Order: sequence, then structure tokens, then C-alpha cells
Amino acid sequence: MSEQQILKNTNAEILNQFNASLMFDKKLYAQDIKGSIAHSKMLALQGIITLDDQEQIEAGLLTIKEEIEKGEFIWTINDEDIHMAIENRLSKLIGSAAGRLHTARSRNDQVATDFSLYVQDKTLDIKEKLKKLIKVLIDISSVHTDTLIPGMTHLQHAQPINFAFHMLAYANMFKRDFERFSSSYSRNNYSPLGSAALAGTPHNIDRFKTAELLGFDGPTNCALDSSSNRDFALEILFNIATSMMHVSRISEELILWSSYEFGFVKMSDEYATTSSIMPQKKNPDVPELLRGKTGRVYGNLIGLLTVMKGLPLAYNKDTQEDKEGVFDSVETIEISLDILTAVMETLIINKENMEKACQIGHLSATDLADYLVKNKNIPFRTAYYITKDVVAYANSIRKDVSELSLDEVRKSSKELENVEEEILACLNLRHSMNARNSFGGTSTEQTKALIEIFKQWIYNN
Ligand code: ARG
Repeated sequence: MSEQQILKNTNAEILNQFNASLMFDKKLYAQDIKGSIAHSKMLALQGIITLDDQEQIEAGLLTIKEEIEKGEFIWTINDEDIHMAIENRLSKLIGSAAGRLHTARSRNDQVATDFSLYVQDKTLDIKEKLKKLIKVLIDISSVHTDTLIPGMTHLQHAQPINFAFHMLAYANMFKRDFERFSSSYSRNNYSPLGSAALAGTPHNIDRFKTAELLGFDGPTNCALDSSSNRDFALEILFNIATSMMHVSRISEELILWSSYEFGFVKMSDEYATTSSIMPQKKNPDVPELLRGKTGRVYGNLIGLLTVMKGLPLAYNKDTQEDKEGVFDSVETIEISLDILTAVMETLIINKENMEKACQIGHLSATDLADYLVKNKNIPFRTAYYITKDVVAYANSIRKDVSELSLDEVRKSSKELENVEEEILACLNLRHSMNARNSFGGTSTEQTKALIEIFKQWIYNN
């Protein structure tokens, strides 16, 4: 018996429970097997193991993959983690050749590699989901470039905008998220495998070959760093947290908009829930959960940042705590993006209520002030006070400024007694929206131009 085996057999049961990661890292079985096959191929190419051993190793690993996928693999906590579980099973299957697989690597670079492969795969999946969501937002935008909705600040009616413009603000957020995932993907696309425990290996390995076989851009360049680095995991956690913050913001609006007070949208019955006690109610559980789940992905980010903050170089077992949070965040964002996309795709939009809401709060008041500055050569501050009088007058007759007749405008302020008919145009809500035709503004023209840019982007990505 080796010293290691003697130690194992005397382990307390509670130590195995505490020390093991197998319960959660078995999720990495496919990456572990992929990594081991690439490593064995490289070892054979370098003449470090024989071709015959490599073939046995590869066949054995593929058998194990099948066993796991068919649910036939026997998981035992005594194996500690996925790496040992697979290696132990491999030696039962193929005997002594299995013992050669771990040449020139350690579990430290092995786990970093498996986890990197997982993060990279998931990064691509999340990007696809973001793209689908953006596409749906663009589809909605395409038919609402002339639909008025009150633009708000401080959740108070401010200026009229169009609904497409509002959707495009979210499309922009999710596009930045997409780009953030692309950037972390390329920054982290390097293979730690062959870094070994912390300092490299005396064996004549070819890390470039392993990296290539695994689809990485190349090997990492400092074993001490790469055997303990978890920045790639932190980056996906940060990217997910930011993207979920955007998911949460649009969810908040869906919740508000579907209330009686707003009545701007209705969620399709497929994605709304009912109350167990109030039969008349339709609840926005889906956006509420999306908003709520954002909290847990923030927690996962802070959790791992905290795990990493005090670690001396290089690998420390603390790092084993990196996985569950990442798995949880990945699973959370994947289902969240899918369901948000479905909700948006089936959203019933109440154009009439949106436009009606624009007639509350004198949304075109700023336009009147701007008109007086531009056409009457009145200083802005004076124009501001004149407009205030018009608003007060409109309030006194229970009208929105956009609804005033020429007569009423003339009556509202001494300064406007002789004003011409054209002043009414600037009080018109649609006119007000279209007047904001500066680059990036809300006018239908600018909005349509942005939609075209998005269509091109979707096509190119
Ligand atoms: N289960 C471990 C982890 O997830 C694998 C690496 C263990 N390495 C070690 N030297 N004990 O981090």
C-alpha cells in the first residue's frame, strides 16, 4: 500500500463529505474526458506514452462517457472529485495504461482546464440566447417607430418618445452584454493544461498541441498563474450579473406596464400566472422572478471574489468553491433569457393606452418653450415662465397642453395674445417626438436608422 492509500483508508466519513466536490463537479465530466483525451494524444505524439496505451486510454474514456450519459456510472464520494472518479474507473476498465494518463499534469491544471472549457462553452451558448432576445426586440421595434409612449425620468412623465426607441434602449444593453461575453471569451481562450501542479513539468510535452486539440488559441504562459487563476470564472459571473441587471430592469417595466395603472402591455396567458385566492387576478410572476433571480447571480459574483481575495499563489483548496456559483449563474441566465425572449415575443402591446398616457403631464411643454426661443427670439428663462402659464391654464380647464385650441393658447398668457396658428404644431405630441431628430434622438427617422444598424449587426454576428 502506498502512503496515499493508507491515508485514504483512515479518512473519517465526515472528511469525505466535506472535502469532496464530486456531487457538483460531476457536471464537468465531458470537459474532463475531452481534456484527458487531448492530453493523452499529445503524450503519445511526444513519445511520452505509447500509441497503444493512448488508444486504450481514449477507448476507456469514451466508454466512461457513455456510462455516465446512460446513467450507469457508479458515483462514489470516496473518489472525491470528477477527476479521480474518472481516473479510478479508467484503471478498473483498462488496467495499468490508465496510470500513465496523469503524466505531466496535476489536478490543479486539470480542473482549471475543465472549468475553462465549461465557461467557454457556456459563453457561446449565452451569446446565442442574447442574440435571439435582441432579434425579438428589433422585431417589436420595427412596427412601433410611430407608437407614442411617455418617456420618463424619475418615473414621471417627461417627453413623448416612441415605443421602438424604448425597446432599442434595451437592445443596446443586451448588445453590450453580447460584446462583453465575446471579449471575455477571447481574453480567456488559453489552455492551462500542462501547467502541472504549479511550476510546469520536466517531461517534454507540447502544450501548444494540447491547446490546439481543445480549441484554445494557445497555452497559458505562466504555470504559477494559470494553475490558480479563476479570472475567467469571475468574468463570466460579472457578465452574467450585468446582463441579469438589464433583464431585471426590463422586467421591472413589464411589471409596471402590465398593472391597471399603466395598462400598456399584457403578458400572454402562457407566461402569466393566477392567484390562488383572487380568481380575477393575472400576476406577473415571470418578470418578478427574473428581477428576483438577479440577486442570486450578484451573490455568486461577490462569493467568488471573496473566495479569491486572500489566496497566496498558487492552487489552494478554497478554489474548489468556485464551481457551484458559476453553475448556478449560468443556469439562471440561460433560463432567464429564454423565458424573457418568449415573454417579449408574445407580449400584447396596447398602443392606445400608451398614446393616451402621453396626454397626461404636458409632455410637449418643453417644445412650446423651445418654439418661443427659436421663433420669437425670447430668452429661454422668459419662455420657461410663459410656458408655465400655459400649463397652469391648461390645468385650470382640465386639458393637456397638447389638447389646447389656438384660442385657449392665446388666452393662457399675455405674451401669447397674438400668437399664430403654427404654435399648435409644436404642442402636438407626435410633432414633439419627431422634433428630437438629433443623432440618437427619438424621432421616427432616427429610430428607423438605429433599427437598420441593429439588423446589420444581427446579420453580421
Ligand atoms: N476538486 C478540486 C477542485 O475543484 C480539484 C483540484 C484538487 N487539487 C488538489 N491539489 N487538491 O479544485
